[in-house]
Amino acid sequence: MTVSLINGGRGVYILFFFFSSWWTEVQMGPPDPILGVTEAFKRDTNPKKMNLGVGAYRDDQGKPFVLNCVRKAEAQIAAKKLDKEYLPIGGMAEFSKACAQLALGPDNEVLKSGRSITVQTISGTGSLRVGANFVSRFHNVSRDVYLPKPSWGNHTPIFRDAGMQLKAYSYYDPKTCGFDFKGGLDEISKIPEKSVIVLHACAHNPTGVDPRPEQWKEMAALIKKRNLLVFFDMAYQGFASGDIDRDAWAVRYFIEQGHNILLSQSFAKNMGLYGERVGGFTVVCKDAEEAKRVESQLKILIRPIYSNPPMNGARIASTILNTPELYKEWLVEVKGMADRIIKMREMLVSNLKKEGSTHNWQHVIDQIGMFCFTGLKPEQVERLIKEFSIYMTKDGRISVAGVTSANVGYLAHAIHTVTK
Ligand SMILES: Cc1ncc(COP(=O)(O)O)c(C=O)c1O
Repeated sequence: MTVSLINGGRGVYILFFFFSSWWTEVQMGPPDPILGVTEAFKRDTNPKKMNLGVGAYRDDQGKPFVLNCVRKAEAQIAAKKLDKEYLPIGGMAEFSKACAQLALGPDNEVLKSGRSITVQTISGTGSLRVGANFVSRFHNVSRDVYLPKPSWGNHTPIFRDAGMQLKAYSYYDPKTCGFDFKGGLDEISKIPEKSVIVLHACAHNPTGVDPRPEQWKEMAALIKKRNLLVFFDMAYQGFASGDIDRDAWAVRYFIEQGHNILLSQSFAKNMGLYGERVGGFTVVCKDAEEAKRVESQLKILIRPIYSNPPMNGARIASTILNTPELYKEWLVEVKGMADRIIKMREMLVSNLKKEGSTHNWQHVIDQIGMFCFTGLKPEQVERLIKEFSIYMTKDGRISVAGVTSANVGYLAHAIHTVTK
């Protein structure tokens, strides 16, 4: 507290007590670019408004969607009247096992030989952060992490806050709205040995552009030659093509080729468990003994951050993954979500053609997963927001999951108007 004596005039002195703050030096930070879009959307009173910023699935009525298999799993769990004791530091064992099997395939040699460790994490973000901290603490041969250009916006702060240095390799070609295969290979071939490289396993966010299998193969060979540590981020398994095995192809191929990868998984999108925060982090090791050592250090790392992960979402995911009927139903429901998104991509392009647009919109169909990099310029995005109340991030990324049979025509009309 500061005390000041101020002259109030005519010989009157006033005593002021100032309570100084601990936080006067704290500057106002910028709002999160995606959550900022949602805030602006909420304030808009136009009944036709659309929020294409947020990465959460909506059904064809534009409503958040809870999967039937999730409802059933919840009912089964509730009927068991389970306790709410702490989970172990690494999470629920049945969940972690099923999580790794889903990604790697149940017959994977890595799982059979026990040369991997999977811990339950706080969704994909928590998994990436645990992984980033692990790399930062133990991968002492390099501090550099190479992200695709562009990458999911949260990758940069996750690795930076863990003490790593961010670098990038070419990924998206704005000329084709597709994968810059040649540029990517060229830049990857110059990455210093032993650096970390982040790869989106499928449904790349924000571009929706994935390498084809033959391109993955060349990348795997080059990355091996450069001796890079591969960190796969798989936030959309099943959500891209509708087929969990097809979406995990790259992860499994890299392992087959001898890459001892790090892997982050999220069940936010493919099970619609966004707020439940269910994910997994896996380290593929040389052998079972190494996996044990890594496991011990992951526990040491996790314990002072959040002690142990939350149980509710993991119980739901574990029940689905470990109950054959629910698992079967889940596969159908994931495919249903992926198919609806694919259909909306096609409908958007056919409506653009109907509007009379002569641009080539093929990339909207070719891109995969929740997001589409439309190629719209920032000034066109601004017009969509101002004139049509259609909200998206400035980079022209739309969440196709926010498009419905009812509003796709309006969206096509608006896009055509600003791109004429
Ligand atoms: C590429 C990518 N990685 C990870 C995540 C993590 O999401 P969550 O923490 O909700 O699982 C997301 C979510 O948008 C993502 O797009």
